[in-house]
Amino acid sequence: MTDLVVRKMDFAFEDHDVPFLWNETNPAFSSMANAVSFLAIGFEKMIVKMILQLKPQITDPEVADEADAFMRQEGQHSGAHRQHVRALIRRYPGLQDTLDAVIAEFDALTEHKPLKYRLAYTADLEATFTSVFKLMLDNEASLFRPGDDRVASLFIWHFVEEVEHRSSALIIFDSVVGSDLYRMRVAPSIFAHVLKVIRIACAGFNEHVPLEDRRIDSLSMFGTYRNKKALSKWLPWLRTPDFGPMTRAFDDLPLGEQLIALKGIIRSQLPKHDPAHENLPALADVWFDRYAAGHDVAHWYATDALLTSGAKS
Ligand SMILES: [Fe+2]
Ligand SMILES: [Fe+2]
Repeated sequence: MTDLVVRKMDFAFEDHDVPFLWNETNPAFSSMANAVSFLAIGFEKMIVKMILQLKPQITDPEVADEADAFMRQEGQHSGAHRQHVRALIRRYPGLQDTLDAVIAEFDALTEHKPLKYRLAYTADLEATFTSVFKLMLDNEASLFRPGDDRVASLFIWHFVEEVEHRSSALIIFDSVVGSDLYRMRVAPSIFAHVLKVIRIACAGFNEHVPLEDRRIDSLSMFGTYRNKKALSKWLPWLRTPDFGPMTRAFDDLPLGEQLIALKGIIRSQLPKHDPAHENLPALADVWFDRYAAGHDVAHWYATDALLTSGAKS
């Protein structure tokens, strides 16, 4: 029996406007997280279709159980990110084209790539999440806390559940395909696709969201783009439009923690990687306890303020 819990969440994005710049203290992180919302919709749609297609091939009942719960969690994530992105599109209608382009990238994988490739894609990408999300959740005080509570709560929920189901995709891949060699061989094309999709989202932000709402060049997270921009100061024929300051989301995070995350990402792609042994963000356990106790985790920081003031009095 899997331990995964399928949780339905309502972040009330319909209630009032959802800002693109949802954490004003870190415009680059606001933009990066928004890009994750776009990617999540397409990626998790692909996962749900893949598991449905895969079900008849899963013979081990425990793996079938894991796959079902994994798919249901991803389905909930995708639905919540759709509500978030729908709110952004209401404000910036041009972003509908961006969303369509992102989803089309994943629909193309569903249509043209074999199941084992899509399984490897899911296993490879999900394997990186524990290290990446630990870095973010360990730095929640600067990345999430100063932001819009609904958007911050959406990402915290999604990231702790990614930590919770960190082994699922590899369990399914190992049961159905079971080849570390294949997973490693296709990894470069998988991560190239992930970066391509994030680039589509960021280029869409530059095009459809005014600079006063974005405050940064959304493409500044890409090293190749930064290098080209730097070179264009001396090589005018490389010059591209100016989309704003080139700040990065993690510039203020401790370098040591960033290096640990980077090492974790590399480790996650090696043979025999077992996510069960990863170091986990402390916030995940707090989150699961609060959810189990019935607290309102869809407004994480409002609830946090209530609980902390209650604990002090
Ligand atoms: Fe997810
Ligand atoms: Fe996931």
